[in-house]
Amino acid sequence: MDISKYMNRAELDTLDKQPLYLQIALLIADKIQKQILPSGTKLPPERELANLFAVSRTTAINAYRKLEQQGLVWTKVGSGTYVAQAHDVESLSEVPWPQLFTAYPQNPLASILRDIVSTPARGTISLAAGMPDPALYPLETFTELFNHNIGRVAPADFGHIPVEGYNPLRRAIATMLSEKGIPALTENILTLSGSQQGLYLLSKVLLEPGDYVVMEAPTFIGAIQVFQAAGARVLSLPCSEKLSLELLEDFLIRYRPKLLYIIPTYQNPTGRVMSAQERQDLIKLAKRHRLVIVEDDPYSDLCYGEQPPQALKALDSYGGVVYLGTFSKILFPGLRTGYLAGPPILINRLALEKQFIDLHTNNIAQWLVTMFLNEGKLAEHLTAVRREYKKRRDTMAKALQRSCANDLEFTVPEGGFYFWCKLKHAGTSQRVLQEAAKNRISFVPGAAFHTAPTLDKEFRLCFTTHNEAVLLESVQRLAKTLTQITKKNKDNEAMPCSVWPII
Ligand SMILES: Cc1ncc(COP(=O)(O)O)c(C=O)c1O
Repeated sequence: MDISKYMNRAELDTLDKQPLYLQIALLIADKIQKQILPSGTKLPPERELANLFAVSRTTAINAYRKLEQQGLVWTKVGSGTYVAQAHDVESLSEVPWPQLFTAYPQNPLASILRDIVSTPARGTISLAAGMPDPALYPLETFTELFNHNIGRVAPADFGHIPVEGYNPLRRAIATMLSEKGIPALTENILTLSGSQQGLYLLSKVLLEPGDYVVMEAPTFIGAIQVFQAAGARVLSLPCSEKLSLELLEDFLIRYRPKLLYIIPTYQNPTGRVMSAQERQDLIKLAKRHRLVIVEDDPYSDLCYGEQPPQALKALDSYGGVVYLGTFSKILFPGLRTGYLAGPPILINRLALEKQFIDLHTNNIAQWLVTMFLNEGKLAEHLTAVRREYKKRRDTMAKALQRSCANDLEFTVPEGGFYFWCKLKHAGTSQRVLQEAAKNRISFVPGAAFHTAPTLDKEFRLCFTTHNEAVLLESVQRLAKTLTQITKKNKDNEAMPCSVWPII
């Protein structure tokens, strides 16, 4: 297997006291533990491993020996080195689980999303997950709504309900969308267990293996994973300041993609907003080609300045835009309540598919969100979180400018959750991430948001999860990391080239 996609020489620290063979063994062990290199994977021969890391063959052999001692790899004489079966409780089972599993597309991204939402090590400030601040979750309001209304609810409302969702919530969402210029009736709405589920359902009902989908590059990791797991081939549309409609048209003519997935407002991860003109031009082009557009819109309510232009769905004159929304970013992610707006024929087909996974979305969450919307609590809550997040964005922007501007370029987002940063110096964001871990700060490296290999100069920082004091501390830690890397780069330039023995 070509492991150069997952690790390379840049990740070794030649100034570190830890010998190189150990550093290589640790890198490989990490990928094995994350199942990026699953059991049974054939690892490169020693000579190739040595070339990959620009080390001697002895170093490569020692790295494999170390992994072998740890039981992570095994060597078959005359054949090569393989990743061993997992050495955990499951290996005690007599059932050969791995042989029973259906084919799973091996994708290094698969574990990234899980890692992002997993709890960071103690003392580490994580700017990785795209999460609202738990201190701002409107839990008091939810408690009041619950206590006040639980006695009045018909018990049947907590039994099974239609797969399409709790009708009062579908109605409330249709009203909310209509107020934003997106004409919708109850029958156009499917409630979801998070908008991630909407992406999954769309992939199930629209995509066959080998189908093409167009996605911005970079884009939301969860969408990449779902479409790739469906066997789709991704056509990348660079997410630069202005979307290239010429390139999109070229894709439409050459490949007839099944859909375009796009985040027009406060894009994840870049924060970009499509202008009103771009939106109109895109709709015109899509209408001509009858292109299905999946518009993912989790962030548009979180604007810190001018209102963004209307959603693509509001301009949809040909019935081809499918709109995804969620309460995860504006209320809290554990609600697992999102929604999809589309034509009834699509809602019906998606509901048939949804019943296979969860019958319907959790009633209690849907009931609570309905009251939250119907009692006008959302507008109040949005005003409060917008004010707070705007302060955090400005504080962090100033701190980044003050302490990191020599090493980083970044854009100040008009809304949403993220700073998208670009390294000015030599080195990759993966390298910065590794060093940053030593200074107890984490974020998501840019490569995670791409389907194709990139220069890996970019990374995403979420500024909404922590208060201003923690954000300031996080920027200090980042600045320290960047200074350390710049110093190491300079020292390395000054060192004479090493000569490797040929054996
Ligand atoms: C662009 C985008 N779409 C969808 C989601 C998933 O949201 P949910 O929690 O509703 O599944 C996210 C979450 O990060 C996101 O950024």
